[in-house]
Amino acid sequence: MATDKQQESHLVDEVETTGHEWDGIQEYNNPLPRWWLYTFYVCIIWSVGYWLLMPTWPLVSDFTRGYLGYSQRASVARDIEEARAAQSVYTDKIEKLSLADIRKDSELMEFAVAGGRSAFGVNCIQCHGSGASGGIAYPNLNDDDWLWGGDIEAIHQTIKFGVRSDHEDTRFGDMPAFLKDEILTASEISDVAEFTLTLSGQKADAASVARGAPIFAEQCAACHGPAGKGLREFGAPNLTDNIWLFGRDKSVIVQTVSNGRAGVMPAWSTRLDPVTVKQLALYIHVLGGGE
Ligand code: HEC
Ligand code: HEC
Repeated sequence: MATDKQQESHLVDEVETTGHEWDGIQEYNNPLPRWWLYTFYVCIIWSVGYWLLMPTWPLVSDFTRGYLGYSQRASVARDIEEARAAQSVYTDKIEKLSLADIRKDSELMEFAVAGGRSAFGVNCIQCHGSGASGGIAYPNLNDDDWLWGGDIEAIHQTIKFGVRSDHEDTRFGDMPAFLKDEILTASEISDVAEFTLTLSGQKADAASVARGAPIFAEQCAACHGPAGKGLREFGAPNLTDNIWLFGRDKSVIVQTVSNGRAGVMPAWSTRLDPVTVKQLALYIHVLGGGE
């Protein structure tokens, strides 16, 4: 067995050292492995070729463009152009055909509904929720209860022009603020709210209901209908079902009647192209409750 000292001096004899030494550790001057060295040379040659062919060096206000003239931006633009061209077979048809005719073409419908779904995800979920199930003040678009109509043309019109929007063709229905505008007193509003509860089969105070019924007939029936089933011309909700825009409780109804609500749905014909708006209408229509 050689001692550590002997082993060390034996190795030092064979390989030259660089003369560097730290804490008794010497640095050998071994040559680089061949494979490493050749890879290194290949890389250098490769880099020269790359500099010449591809955009590489930044200049003060520009960059070297390389002999191939390659541009990642141009390549993305080309990909997008190709995708558009592939889609234009469908989008051209959607633009030209009526909504009814689009619905007869199942392949076109599949494309339109997929496009509508993605446009919905970008533009509509903030208010209507990701599954279009709505929330307080924002209608659920999955059910078959429609403020303005659930056939394809009605839905298309609502999306195009909005509700109480800034578009001149907007849908419009204006429930007065009965307390603020001093049309009814607070106790009359309490009575008509009690009556409203009975329309959807909720429990209510009988004396109040008796006083509230004629008030409803006089002040509310013009928009909500004599039986409270709602009128789409005014976007007045059906008050006899269990689907509520704002809430079924008396306190919420009193709020609505006292101050009005006037929810706003934006017009989309000024924000999105006509093909996208049509796709949205078709998507909403197939969500489940289309008429
Ligand atoms: C800023 C909130 C908001 C956004 C964004 C919004 N909506 Fe609405 N939407 C509303 C409100 C509020 C109503 C109810 C209006 C009313 O009181 O009649 C409504 C109503 C509707 C209706 C009518 C429902 C019915 O029962 O008749 C449809 C259809 C509709 N929205 C579709 C869409 C689509 C499609 C988009 C996206 C392109 C969208 N909405 C984006 C707020 C919004
Ligand atoms: C000029 C038409 C009009 C008149 C009159 C009217 N409403 Fe409305 N009502 C509406 C509209 C439109 C809405 C939809 C809410 C909005 O304004 O955004 C509504 C909403 C409501 C709601 C909310 C329903 C829900 O789903 O949450 C209640 C409750 C209601 N009205 C009760 C009444 C009562 C009670 C009266 C009479 C005192 C009355 N309305 C008079 C048009 C009218």
